[in-house]
Amino acid sequence: MPIDDLTAFAPDFAWGAATSAYQVEGAVAEDGRAPSIWDAFCRVPGAIAGGDTGDTACDHYHRWPADIALMAELGLRAYRFSIAWPRVLPAGGGPVNAAGLAFYDRLVDALLAAGIEPHPTLYHWDLPQALQDRGGWPSRDTAERFAEYASVVAAALGDRVTSWATLNEPVCAAWIGHLQGTMAPGVADIRAAVPAAYHLLLAHGLGVQAVRAAAPGARVGIVNLLTDCEPGGAGEADAAAARREDGHHNRWWLDPIHGRGLPADMIEVYGVEPPVRPGDLEAIAAPLDWLGVNYYRRSVTVADPGGPPPHTRQITPAGTPRTGMDWEIHPDRLAKILVRVTEDYAPRSIMVTENGAAYADTVAPGGAVHDAERAAYLEAHLSACASAIRAGVPLDGYFAWSLLDNFEWAYGYAQRFGLVHVDFATQERRVKDSGRRYAEIIRAHRDLRARPLAARSLE
Ligand code: IFM
Repeated sequence: MPIDDLTAFAPDFAWGAATSAYQVEGAVAEDGRAPSIWDAFCRVPGAIAGGDTGDTACDHYHRWPADIALMAELGLRAYRFSIAWPRVLPAGGGPVNAAGLAFYDRLVDALLAAGIEPHPTLYHWDLPQALQDRGGWPSRDTAERFAEYASVVAAALGDRVTSWATLNEPVCAAWIGHLQGTMAPGVADIRAAVPAAYHLLLAHGLGVQAVRAAAPGARVGIVNLLTDCEPGGAGEADAAAARREDGHHNRWWLDPIHGRGLPADMIEVYGVEPPVRPGDLEAIAAPLDWLGVNYYRRSVTVADPGGPPPHTRQITPAGTPRTGMDWEIHPDRLAKILVRVTEDYAPRSIMVTENGAAYADTVAPGGAVHDAERAAYLEAHLSACASAIRAGVPLDGYFAWSLLDNFEWAYGYAQRFGLVHVDFATQERRVKDSGRRYAEIIRAHRDLRARPLAARSLE
């Protein structure tokens, strides 16, 4: 990685890694945790590759001290994790499960003791099944219960946690969970998807208010999965499809939280009116302290008139390098998105809250994991971050996805994103070469700030 790239990052840049509760914790029936929609979805025959579940995952619920030691070994300054709503409020609202909350209390204390800043996300897709049984995200009550839950967690941890995210990638919870049906809760109906998408936005807005009320001084943001949408062909039909895909994937989420209201063109495409009530849009548009950007790949879009709204389909042109999941690798698009978001929405601060690549890593004799492709992916995307900063993007953090190999939703455990390899039979952790490389970069940045010549070995 060129030395010039390292100098772009501010001295207090948040070098981090991310996970989420259902993907790493396991212990799904311990200490009063109730089932989530993912526990239920994993039981649907054929829903998850290999019939995998998050029942044990990385057993992080029990192994968190060792996992924090690994983070410290890597030199991480920040850890992004999510809090499991069904651990804290097993019924979705009402009585608090003190034992569930205590887990996060211990985690936060231990992170701070290790010099690692905690960055919790309140919702990473694990809705309490009890709320699903009462209507789930298509019901307004779920957004109101989210505010109740956010208030409980912020009151408990807000004396030590300063950075909060309301939702992770509502785009997936809404459209993949309620339109494509390939994620929990497995619904495929635009009449459920639009109210679900709307109530996720509302939950965010109410959640911002709840966190700020319970934890004055909190820095609150939201995490969106963004993609650069380009037409798959030269004609007007594909150009229009790319605009619809951009509306569906990006603008539906970015416009209302920045006070621009819901995109009227997309409401027309969906043909379903969102259930807006007076005051909602103002709540959704509460000014944020930071914006989280998750980036993995671009979207090359063609028109699909026979498909469900937004009548688009993604294609993967030949000739571009891809990850083990067949996702195209385009670091330049990360810089492009960061610049676009800065120009279009002027967030106060941005963090790349997820970025990473899955490969079928293997353990070499002697225990090393030589994942050169992931290390190259990481460096290329960090260079893209540096270019974005030089172009004026207020980028304050980068979180590699993921700290650990983990439960990759419908792909089960077949896809590995970790900087740290997990042997799911023994739970043994092994830092991969990419993890070591990331540690070198973090160390070099720190040394560069202290002794400008020290990082030249990275060139
Ligand atoms: O594993 C997921 C994560 O939960 C949300 N963002 C994308 C990652 C990779 O698919």
